[in-house]
Amino acid sequence: MFDTTVCVIFVNMKNLSTGVKNILGLQLPSDPRWVNLAELELDEILTDHAYCEQKAAITCISLITKNSEKELLVDELSPIVTEEWGHFRMVIAELKKRNLKLGKQRKDVYVNSLIQFQKKDGSPQQRFLDQMLIMALIEARSCERFKRLSEGLDDLYMRNFYRKFMESEAGHYTLFITLAEHYLDKKVVRSRWTEWLKYEKELIQQMELRGDRIH
Ligand SMILES: [Fe+2]
Ligand SMILES: [Fe+2]
Repeated sequence: MFDTTVCVIFVNMKNLSTGVKNILGLQLPSDPRWVNLAELELDEILTDHAYCEQKAAITCISLITKNSEKELLVDELSPIVTEEWGHFRMVIAELKKRNLKLGKQRKDVYVNSLIQFQKKDGSPQQRFLDQMLIMALIEARSCERFKRLSEGLDDLYMRNFYRKFMESEAGHYTLFITLAEHYLDKKVVRSRWTEWLKYEKELIQQMELRGDRIH
């Protein structure tokens, strides 16, 4: 397991169970060559990133709509919608500065592959758990990729740009696990999170290394 400390230090983790704190880390670091490839295709990265932020906002709205009886979830995810939409706008502004247009959304192989692992025929609780954990995982991997960009890019301005995103996403991935733990048995959350981490590790191993995608 690699060190995700930098993504975790910004997070108030006192509300998480010890078990989840211990297993929070992704199982496989991104290939170090990814940031060099990304640097060569930063315009493409920005477009892909804009859509990641847009999808994060849309998914949070959808989770609020589907779980409107869960008061804590509604309270916690409502500001995340605003935050993710703010991120979307920040990326759009950066594209504009470069005289680039948003362009069309690309096929998201990473997220589509994660969706394959969601339990389709489980109980409503199991489906809810997977929805929370898939979001936690996407946020965690995004945080790790933003960390790579914030440390590995030559351009100091872009390093700082991505550091802000890294700090935000670090808070988000723990929030989804905290919410899952609030509504479900902590042991069940922990056990399924371990399965997700294993699946995501295998997915990252299999995926083609591309510099034009965040994931
Ligand atoms: Fe975001
Ligand atoms: Fe996020």
